[in-house]
Amino acid sequence: MAQFIIPPQKHIKGGKINVLGAKNAAIIMIAASCLFNGKTILDNVPDILDIQRILEIIKKMGGRFRRTGHCLEIDNSELQPVNPDPKLVGNIRASIVLTGPLLARFGKLKIPHPGGCVIGQRPIDLHLKAFKDMGVKIKETNGFFEFSFLKPLKKPLSAIKFNKVTVTGTENLLLFAAGLNHKVIIENAAIEPEVIDLIKFLKKAGVKIGIKNRRFVVFGPRQFKPVNHLVIPDRIEAGTFAILAATGQIPLRINQMVPEHLEVLLNVFQKIGVKFIIGKNFLEIKKSPELKAVDISTEVYPGFPTDLEPPIAVLLTQAKGTSRIRENIFENRLGYLEELKKMGAEVKIISPQEALIYGKRRLHGARIESLDLRAGATLLIAGLISNGTTKINHAENIDRGYEQIEKRLKNIGAKIQRVR
Ligand code: EPZ
Repeated sequence: MAQFIIPPQKHIKGGKINVLGAKNAAIIMIAASCLFNGKTILDNVPDILDIQRILEIIKKMGGRFRRTGHCLEIDNSELQPVNPDPKLVGNIRASIVLTGPLLARFGKLKIPHPGGCVIGQRPIDLHLKAFKDMGVKIKETNGFFEFSFLKPLKKPLSAIKFNKVTVTGTENLLLFAAGLNHKVIIENAAIEPEVIDLIKFLKKAGVKIGIKNRRFVVFGPRQFKPVNHLVIPDRIEAGTFAILAATGQIPLRINQMVPEHLEVLLNVFQKIGVKFIIGKNFLEIKKSPELKAVDISTEVYPGFPTDLEPPIAVLLTQAKGTSRIRENIFENRLGYLEELKKMGAEVKIISPQEALIYGKRRLHGARIESLDLRAGATLLIAGLISNGTTKINHAENIDRGYEQIEKRLKNIGAKIQRVR
């Protein structure tokens, strides 16, 4: 288990930081490459644990890949119709999105439930219902799901509607539909930037996709075209760095990002009183004299992203007044607040999805657990503003989503050490 040690920071000079490619877009595009009996080139792919984990699953099935910097070349011409290794699937929840492409390509698949995590049960009932509505047969035994269907599906047109917006559920069915050679309508789809970037990727492969609000009309090609795609910047990484700068009063220019993807965060920044400048592909955070408390309620895109809810909570410990956080996406995401309380934050947990944060409070060092990757990044921010030494266990949770995080923080003047 690796640990981050963060001593008290006298002054973090700030400067510039480049945002890397979106983890939650790249993972899904790697899964999508299983549709293709050939090569896929993906650029701007961060070198992080979750990417390594999904590649490991595909490699064991006969896929091959070569990484040159942030460019990934994947060749799935030798991909075998074998089941993904259950142990490897259990390492990364997003592996569930392998179902759509592998089912479309090979017609059958056995995969274990990807498992829940600290932020919630993470059920896959919406995925299963959608596949069943597409005519797929699913047998569940001892936590494994066996999917099968006969191509071509009996009906020339399939239509599915998600009862609740699900990001990977939408992506899973998009990839399945892309591999069928008939019209598929997906209603109440997720429209996160990562989903829209996946659609751009699939269109390059020759998939016809029409979008109207949350309604997608998909028509897969007889023959895919090879795809060469630049992954969008990671809006959650960009938002996390912006919140770090605002919390620590660090003058920071965040480059290679898409400001439009963070519109809702920037609106909240304005209400809090965070000073910033927006450029075409950068966001510059300035020192802000006074931070004011606000209420945050997470929603599906374009609402406030649940993955920025933990980081913004640290900023709210430095804002004058009482802030209210309402986590509407996951049923158990507020666990990190207990860790912040160990550092001196004054928090009142009203329910597993609602809390009050009283500011402004000085944070002090503590030994804390990084529960999930977003909570881990949150505790890094808290450690960088606390007036004592902070030790964060399970640093590998942070490595899942942020490449070389300590090196990049050192480059803006932070003192942080990784201890194996
Ligand atoms: C994606 O997870 C992201 N992961 C998550 O990022 C992100 O927090 C989440 O979307 C919400 O934006 C990837 O894209 C790889 P959902 P996903 O299905 O797709 C419930 C990170 O840190 N639900 O949109 O798993 C679910 O429990 C991760 O990068 C069902 O009930 O989330 C949740 O309450 C964390 N049944 C809500 O829907 C289902 O079948 C939204 O989940 C599926 C989901």
